[in-house]
Amino acid sequence: MKSDDYILVVGGAGYIGSHINKELFKKGYNTIVFDNLVYGHKELVKWGNFVQGDLKNLDQIKKVFDSYSISSVMHFAAYAYVGESVKNPEKYYTNNVVNTLNLLNLMNACNIKNFIFSSSCATYGTPEKIPIPEDHPQNPINPYGRGKLMVEQILDDYSRAYNMKYVSLRYFNAAGADPDIETGEWHDPETHLIPLILDTAIGKRDSISVFGTDYNTKDGTCIRDYIHVTDLAQAHILALEHLTGGGNSEIFNLGNGNGHSVMEVIETAKKITGKQIDVINTERREGDPPELIGSSMKAKTMLGWKPIHDSLETIIETAWQWHRKLY
Ligand code: UFG
Repeated sequence: MKSDDYILVVGGAGYIGSHINKELFKKGYNTIVFDNLVYGHKELVKWGNFVQGDLKNLDQIKKVFDSYSISSVMHFAAYAYVGESVKNPEKYYTNNVVNTLNLLNLMNACNIKNFIFSSSCATYGTPEKIPIPEDHPQNPINPYGRGKLMVEQILDDYSRAYNMKYVSLRYFNAAGADPDIETGEWHDPETHLIPLILDTAIGKRDSISVFGTDYNTKDGTCIRDYIHVTDLAQAHILALEHLTGGGNSEIFNLGNGNGHSVMEVIETAKKITGKQIDVINTERREGDPPELIGSSMKAKTMLGWKPIHDSLETIIETAWQWHRKLY
């Protein structure tokens, strides 16, 4: 990277994007966060430059491409409410697919060739085997997951036809907060398990609902692979350096390879917060696979990625510290 080059962080005012923006800054990269602030928060853009803009307005992004020397684009600006994607697929396909395609077309026209894409374990659907490797069949079961898969397929075609280079990172359950507590999870509305448990601990909610206790798992509740957001951020930097170092386009899972049930997460949160957390057992949530655990061997061997905040305790502890700061 030339010293006057920039990394464009699209959606960098959001949860995951703000952590990546921070880690890029710490590594000495120049960044420009481009975010419409619909779900993102200006307060989380504490590093680099900020441009408020919307991906559906290509002129705004073109202006950024014309004003700065952009070497690579990292793209986090997606809607991510799975239930909403079922009810309103137009919103999801329009933003997560069409707007991403427009971004890629503009990048191609402007000769910007490196792209880091935040994909998801939701592209696998209900897994046939655990842990899930990258070559596992992809049969997403909702428009959110299907949209992510469509972009992966577009990237595959674009990389061959237009010499673009990309890394798609399939996150498992991003969780936790920056250990310096400068940024963290801040969704409105919030639907994710750990912040909802912490809302209960802090007194914002009366109880946490457990969506299904009759799964074929050790305690009947769903199992997920929670990965610390700062570890995710490190993987993005390694992925970027893989591309800028001449590496090929690749796809990597990002998870810890450990599964934790909903009840284990609640019990751990009780210990860490020291608070009473009332639990209500409810029906299964539609579209929830019983178990999602990723194999990240490929990222570890090819990128040298080493998650360091990998215990559930650390994930919840950092999330709790951030939660107390936020509320
Ligand atoms: N859960 C509850 N009660 C709640 C919220 C969640 O029991 O109030 C359970 C869910 O049923 C699930 C687990 O906690 O078993 C985790 O749920 P989250 O909503 O926190 O996260 P998901 O596993 O649904 O994450 C999915 C995909 C991600 C995707 C994300 C989008 O795994 O790839 O949705 O937000 F990015």
